[in-house]
Amino acid sequence: MKRTLVAAVAAMVLSTPAIAQITPAPTHVRLTVDLAHPGPVIEPAVEGQFAENLGRGIYDGIWVGPHSSVPNRNGYRTDVMDALKALHVPVIRWLGGCFADTYDWRDGIGPAAKRPKGINTNWGGVTDDNSFGTNEFMDYTEALGAAAYVSINLGSLPAYDARQWVQYMTAGGDSALAQERRANGRDKPWTNLKYVGYGNELWGCGGNMTAGYAADLFKRYATFVNPAPGAPDFVKVASGPSDADYAWTDTLMRDAAKQLGAISLHYYTLPGSSWEHKGSATGFSKDEWAATLSKARYMNTLIARHSAIMDKYDPDKKVALYVDEWGTWYDPQPGSHPGFLYQQNTLRDAEVAALTLDIFFRHTDRVKLAAIAQMVNVLQAMVLTEGDKMLLTPTYHVFHMYVPFQGATPYPATVSGPHYVEGKYDLPMVDASAARGTDGKLYLALVNLDPDRAAHVETGLSGTASGRILTGPKMDSHNTFAAPNTIHPVAYSGRSERGRLTFDLPARSVAVVAVDQK
Ligand code: AHR
Repeated sequence: MKRTLVAAVAAMVLSTPAIAQITPAPTHVRLTVDLAHPGPVIEPAVEGQFAENLGRGIYDGIWVGPHSSVPNRNGYRTDVMDALKALHVPVIRWLGGCFADTYDWRDGIGPAAKRPKGINTNWGGVTDDNSFGTNEFMDYTEALGAAAYVSINLGSLPAYDARQWVQYMTAGGDSALAQERRANGRDKPWTNLKYVGYGNELWGCGGNMTAGYAADLFKRYATFVNPAPGAPDFVKVASGPSDADYAWTDTLMRDAAKQLGAISLHYYTLPGSSWEHKGSATGFSKDEWAATLSKARYMNTLIARHSAIMDKYDPDKKVALYVDEWGTWYDPQPGSHPGFLYQQNTLRDAEVAALTLDIFFRHTDRVKLAAIAQMVNVLQAMVLTEGDKMLLTPTYHVFHMYVPFQGATPYPATVSGPHYVEGKYDLPMVDASAARGTDGKLYLALVNLDPDRAAHVETGLSGTASGRILTGPKMDSHNTFAAPNTIHPVAYSGRSERGRLTFDLPARSVAVVAVDQK
């Protein structure tokens, strides 16, 4: 199978004479997996998703309503639902983002026709009929077997409202809120509310607060907003820092560590130099490819530094770091509503996804949950929809290939060898993860960051290995509604050379294999 793939890639490359002349020979790379030092388990939740009420993320993307001509189950798009099921989505964070701190949960319950229409002031000023609310979200997560992560409104509603909302979701018995939920068609409380976010980006759209004020507010809301008696406990997540705002983490940990279950970190990868010039999702240069991968790798520094601050106040690591918004953010797709944050998704995004998941796997002592922004039709999405059509993005394929890492036990994996250098960017050419899956198999993830050079990866492992690889003829290879299968994973295997497992890793590729150890 490997030979077939290498031949196919070679044929693609050689069919372009200009490229054929500059295609260099494979470069030798050494991968060392330290099987003697397993780390803390990779929480499945690090492969989580974020779904905000933004653009066509919820409406059109997840929800079309029961009367739509788009095939659906009780209003949920069938195609998207089936695609997400295959990802074993562990958790979905909803409904913001910035939208969370403007939302009144009461607008989204009861008979759909009676729900008040609102205006989404954060995202495009569009009218929102609130037909997707609490019952619809909680039922969706339940149907997918995912945990629910709900962000409550700290910015513009009193704690009393959030308290009521949580009781609506979690109370048994015959309290008025439990009765109201029953009247809305849901008898038993949902038991999968595992995470509650106390506000979102309180340093910005959530209320422009100082860290000290946000810490105090978190403590006040955390006092009053709790699961109903008898309901499963949930993790209380405070709105944490953006990027390298280490002072925010320090203040939050200093002032609120005792009540914290986790703090969130938000970091987006923008290839461009500013929010005004983020860069295009497709048709980009090699410099932008390298900039994007380099900026994605910065996640490692951010996690290490925020974790070090957390260690000062919480050496036993009781408080987790949740990277609950991450991913690429480009200029909106030309012709799309700029407030809807719709963008294409290419092989470059696949590399960002793989590199970032690999980083999370190196920080399993603190990073217990992450949520890529966002699940459908927004930013670095898993799937894109148009009418009744749906396509799987390269990012989807990476998440699918990485499913075996959910719940796996990671091993340190060190790569040595040449670097990929592009202008001012100097990156390791190959990145790798290794972990023992819950099925007992050893899994390896291999990422070749170099857009031009293939790598010959030598390991100290014995045995055979097979799995899948994602690559494409161009840096911006992507799927479209006209050609939805342009880029998809194909079978891939390693080979044994003098008793040692080796891999021929094409340029710009992501592979995941299971090793059959001898
Ligand atoms: O994901 C889009 C937006 O990015 C979210 O609403 C906000 O939290 C962040 O700034």
